[in-house]
Amino acid sequence: MSDVRTVRVELGDRSYPVVVGRGARHELPSLIPNGSRRVAIVTQESIPAVLIPAFAGRDVHRFVIGDGEDHKSLSTIEELMRGFSRAGLTRTDCVVGVGGGLVTDVAGFAAASYHRGIPVAHVATTLLAMVDAAIGGKTGVNIPEGKNLVGAFWQPCAVACDTDALDTLPESESRCGRGEMAKYHFIVREDLSTQSLEERIAACVRIKAEVVAGDERESGRRALLNYGHTLAHAIEVNSGWTIAHGEAVAIGLVFAAHLAHVLGRIDDRRVADHYAVVKDTYGLSTALPKDLDDDALIESMKRDKKALSSLTFVLDSRDGLEVIEGIDEAKIRDALKAHRGYGVSS
Ligand code: GLY
Repeated sequence: MSDVRTVRVELGDRSYPVVVGRGARHELPSLIPNGSRRVAIVTQESIPAVLIPAFAGRDVHRFVIGDGEDHKSLSTIEELMRGFSRAGLTRTDCVVGVGGGLVTDVAGFAAASYHRGIPVAHVATTLLAMVDAAIGGKTGVNIPEGKNLVGAFWQPCAVACDTDALDTLPESESRCGRGEMAKYHFIVREDLSTQSLEERIAACVRIKAEVVAGDERESGRRALLNYGHTLAHAIEVNSGWTIAHGEAVAIGLVFAAHLAHVLGRIDDRRVADHYAVVKDTYGLSTALPKDLDDDALIESMKRDKKALSSLTFVLDSRDGLEVIEGIDEAKIRDALKAHRGYGVSS
């Protein structure tokens, strides 16, 4: 197992390792608390059983949750917690989420709430979960009023990003992860594309770990991890969730570049850099779907979680990314127009 890399998320006595590489899941049993006699695996039918580590000598219970955002709900949490209770889980036992971001968010929130908090560890099986969702302790579920509106910050005790899982990952899931990966190029202003996929995943984890270590509760720099997400959330909602999160982030990243350009924060070349990373390096579509109306997108962006009292974006500048509040709606319209017209010859 020599090619498994370890990145630590440094949070004092809640610090934890993230192991990245082929077979990384096999490291997890030695990384959960020694005192955990019972292990509650939370997974989905679609996740290959081979990706679930063997917890020899422990009493293992498997809980299967449904696929799709509808199952990321409080009723799933209640079912899990009732199951944990029937299995006799105590505060010293451990929940292990094995799956993509939906599983790690739900398993994390169930662990955060059961007995007022029990340990949780994750095996991330999608690229998106590896580079984002499984790291950093954001957990939660949807309610009819919105996505991820109920949750808790609850750090895992260990995460395995097992790249064996990527061998069978559907292309649509891979695109989602690539959208989130592209974001990291702009956070650190480095070209990560020369690295192997595993090195790049570890690099993204390292960047996220460093950001989370400095701002666990998102009172500052952690907001930069939402680069490209303001328009992305609006695209997801207005497309009726037919455009997946990471694909929407890809479009949101180039839109954020156009907006920064309209506001005089970056030059043409930097806008072109965004297209090069998103389109050429990660093979993602950057086009704003024609059927999404600008008025509807702007209305959704006004309701974004970051928009405390005004339209708020993470935007690039010569000195890096910053959170910018109070953006004039007319500038957003100019940027949407520039985005829609980019590369279209007259
Ligand atoms: N997905 C953004 C964050 O964890 O802060």
